Amino acid sequence: MQIIVQTDVEKSAISRHIYGHFSEHLGRCIYGGFWVGEKSSIPNVDGIRLDVIEALKKINIPNLRWPGGCFADEYHWMDGIGPRENRPTMINTHWGGVTENNHFGTHEFLRLCELLECEPYICGNVGSGSVQEMSQWVEYLNSDNVSPMTKLRKENGRDQSWGVKYWGVGNENWGCGGNMRPEYYADVYRRYACYSRNYGEHKLYCIACGSNATDYHWTEVLMRDAGKFMDGLSMHYYTVATGNWKDKGKATGFGLGEWFGSLSNALQMDEVVTRHATIMDHYDPEKRVGMIVDEWGIWLDVEEGTNPGFLYQQNSIRDAMIAGLTLNIFNEHSDRVHMANLAQTVNVLQSLILTEGEKMLLTPTYHVFEMYKAHQDAVLLDTHLTCETSEHEGISITSASVSASRKDDAISMTVCNLDPNQSQDVQIQLRGNNVTQVVDARVLGAQAYDQCNTFDAPESIKPQPIDVKLTGDGQLSWTLPAHSLAVVTVK
Ligand code: AHR
Repeated sequence: MQIIVQTDVEKSAISRHIYGHFSEHLGRCIYGGFWVGEKSSIPNVDGIRLDVIEALKKINIPNLRWPGGCFADEYHWMDGIGPRENRPTMINTHWGGVTENNHFGTHEFLRLCELLECEPYICGNVGSGSVQEMSQWVEYLNSDNVSPMTKLRKENGRDQSWGVKYWGVGNENWGCGGNMRPEYYADVYRRYACYSRNYGEHKLYCIACGSNATDYHWTEVLMRDAGKFMDGLSMHYYTVATGNWKDKGKATGFGLGEWFGSLSNALQMDEVVTRHATIMDHYDPEKRVGMIVDEWGIWLDVEEGTNPGFLYQQNSIRDAMIAGLTLNIFNEHSDRVHMANLAQTVNVLQSLILTEGEKMLLTPTYHVFEMYKAHQDAVLLDTHLTCETSEHEGISITSASVSASRKDDAISMTVCNLDPNQSQDVQIQLRGNNVTQVVDARVLGAQAYDQCNTFDAPESIKPQPIDVKLTGDGQLSWTLPAHSLAVVTVK
C-alpha cells in the first residue's frame, strides 16, 4: 500500500473524547468489572478495582458514559445515594432480570471518574423518569447554592459539587427508552433539556438521543425541531458479523466469511457518519452540534454457558482491527464527530478488559486504544491511501485503513492491514516536513485471525516493536503482517 501524508495540510482537531468509553449496569460490567466493594479481597480503592483503574489510566481514558444504555431509562438515581445498606433494590429487566442492589450509584461513579481522571458522561432517565427527577439530579451534581439537593448531597458526604458537563437526555428513546417517534421525542427533549439547568460555572453540554444506525429521518427531525437546543446529537452503530441479529456470529472459531462480513459492516461506519453529517450540515453549517457516537463496536453471540442477558463475549484480533479502522474513520470525521464511546469497557460486548474473579486481562481492543492515544487532541493531517481490495465469496473490502495526525512536533500514523491472509508492504511518503527520527513503531498482530487473549495466556496478543525504515527523502517503509495494525510516530 502507498500512503501520502501531507504534513503541512492540517484539518480538524481530533477531540480526545473520540477515544471515550461506556459502562452500563449490564452483566458484569459494573459489578465484578469495576465495583467489588470495599471489603473485597481484590485490591480496590473505595470499592473500585485497582487493576482496572490502572489499566484505563494508561490509555488516557478521556470520558466514561454511565449508567446506560437501556438501563438509563429505568434508573432512578435517588435509589443509588445514601448509606448502601438502606438503598432499595430493583430488577434489571433489560439485562438478565437480575436484582440490582444500587450499591454503585452517583457517588461511586463520580469517585471512579476522579480516580480515572476522566470526564463523567451521565445519561438521564427520560423513558420512565420525570422532568423533576432529571432536574433534581443535575442540581444534586452541580449546585453549590443553598438548595434542597445541595443539602442532600452534603448529608451524603460530598460538600463540593462535581461539575458534571456531559449530560445525556435519554437513551435510544426510539426503542428501549420509550418507543417514541422523533417528532414526539424532539419536544420531550426540549422540555427535559430546559429543566436541566446550568449552575454557576457548571455549563451542561446537553446530548439528545440520536438515531439507530441508518435512521436518517430521526436525525432530520431532531436537527430541524430541536437542533438549536442541543450541544450534541448521539448515534448508535453496532457491527454484526453475519448481518443477522438472531445469529450474530462467534467471537472466536469463525471463518473467513465472518471476517469479511464483519469488517465490511464496520467499514460502513464511514457512510453512516457521512450521511448523518450531511443532514446536520444543512441545519448547522457551523458544525456547532457534535455528533456523539456514544455506542459502537462489534456485537457477537455470547460465550457458551454465560447468561444471554449479560452480553459477555471474547475479543479477538479481528475485533482489534474493527476498533482500529473505526477510530481512523472517526478521526477523518473529527470536524463533526466530537465524542464516541465504545460499548462496553469491561466484560460486556467489545470490551477492553475481561475479569474472572481476581484475574484480569487486557483484550486486543485495549491495545488499540493504547496505541492510538497519540491521536488524542492532535490535529488531523491530510492523507491519501492507495491499496488493493481483498475479496472473499463476493464480499470485497478495502485492504487498508490509515489516519495521521500531528501533536506538537510529532506526527503519528495508524495503519491497519485488513487482509486476513496477506502481509503488505507499507510505503509512506511524508510531504511538507523534514522528518529525521522514528520515535515509536509498534505492531499489534496475532498468529491467527481469530486469536484472542485468555486467562491462561493473557499476553499472547500485545504490541511489539517493528523495524521501520526512514530514508532522507521522507519515505517510511515496513512490512505489515496479515491482520495486524501499527502505530508509527516520527519527528
Ligand atoms: O450496549 C448494549 C445496549 O445496546 C444498550 O443498553 C442500548 O443502548 C443498545 O441497544
